[in-house]
Amino acid sequence: MQEENVSFSISKDVFYNPNMRLCRSMSSLAVGAIGETLELVDAFTASGIRGIRYAKENKNVKKLTLLDIDRRAIALAKKNLKSSKLKAPKAQTALGNISRLAFELDADFLEIDPFGTPSPYLIDAFRYFNTKKVAYLSATATDVAVLCGGKTAPCQKNYHSKPMNNEFTHETGLRIMIKRIAEVAAEFNMGIRPLVSFSDKHYLKSVIEVRRSADLAYDSMKRLGHVSFCDACGARSQSLFPEKACPRCGAENDYAGLLWLGELHDSVFLKQMSKLNVQRDYADKAEIGHMLSLMENEIGMPPFYYNIHALCKLIHAKSVPTLESVLKSLESRGQKAFRTHFSPICIKTAAPYADVLAAVGAD
Ligand SMILES: C[S@@+](CC[C@H](N)C(=O)[O-])C[C@H]1O[C@@H](n2cnc3c(N)ncnc32)[C@H](O)[C@@H]1O
Ligand SMILES: [Zn+2]
Repeated sequence: MQEENVSFSISKDVFYNPNMRLCRSMSSLAVGAIGETLELVDAFTASGIRGIRYAKENKNVKKLTLLDIDRRAIALAKKNLKSSKLKAPKAQTALGNISRLAFELDADFLEIDPFGTPSPYLIDAFRYFNTKKVAYLSATATDVAVLCGGKTAPCQKNYHSKPMNNEFTHETGLRIMIKRIAEVAAEFNMGIRPLVSFSDKHYLKSVIEVRRSADLAYDSMKRLGHVSFCDACGARSQSLFPEKACPRCGAENDYAGLLWLGELHDSVFLKQMSKLNVQRDYADKAEIGHMLSLMENEIGMPPFYYNIHALCKLIHAKSVPTLESVLKSLESRGQKAFRTHFSPICIKTAAPYADVLAAVGAD
């Protein structure tokens, strides 16, 4: 197999999903954008392709450990390390459970890409940072049906939060995952700062800086809250506690939370990722460049977005305006409005809801 500039072997017994190439490229750009030298542990490594790409593509990876619980995965990862010409002392493999090895390995950058939810691994993930003041956690969740679904029980069980299945469910799900990370970080006296976070295909991902400080840990807790949504009129809001009734029409609101209400990305970090993307010839270069530029506009915006088609349906519009014309109409009302990486038919804006409705054509 070939992924970007790395040739590697796969096997029928070991997981490899070629559709996660963009996710690995985005994460590799994040590793490079951190800039500092890193001891990197790829804790659910499977074939090893993720960690191998991080180390081959970024000079700042000074040590790489490929870790997996499955012997067949570790045998394959070893073979792939060798063919990539990565060897000890820079690179090694570790066979075992991420939880057990937490007491043996240190990491500045820990990758957790399990099957499904990262939740059961978070406490042990933070043990990898025991000796560190600052570290980086890169977490993927593929249990999108739980985080973005309408069922409370599985999400309460895994994330201690209520999800909400509506037109901006992917942002809600991503913010619930980040909230869970913030809670565990706080128990370790660490504050969080998401550097880049995204939703793509069937997964949610965030690369997060964690910094040891009781004050920062508490600061992160103060950025947790709820989003409320009115099914009847489409109004939405953020607040510390759920808003029980819609302030616009009085109907009963649905809500999601606790979730992360802070930023999903850091602007300087995204710019650094974009710069590296321009220098690299990734197969997904154009798509990544586009995603990164959309993400920059998401900074400073409320923790939800608007689906133009859903709004048009709600107001029984005769036709659906183009997204560009909705953005222009909001701008003409003095409101900032942008496309979002979450969906090509959605926009982000801090405009009052009445302005959003007027921009899609409501009387
Ligand atoms: C989704 S795959 C990882 C894919 C890989 N990161 C990539 O980008 O190709 C999950 C891997 O985690 C391993 N795994 C499952 N539970 C584990 C645990 N508790 N500790 C370490 N590895 C585990 C599995 O053997 C499997 O190889
Ligand atoms: Zn309402």
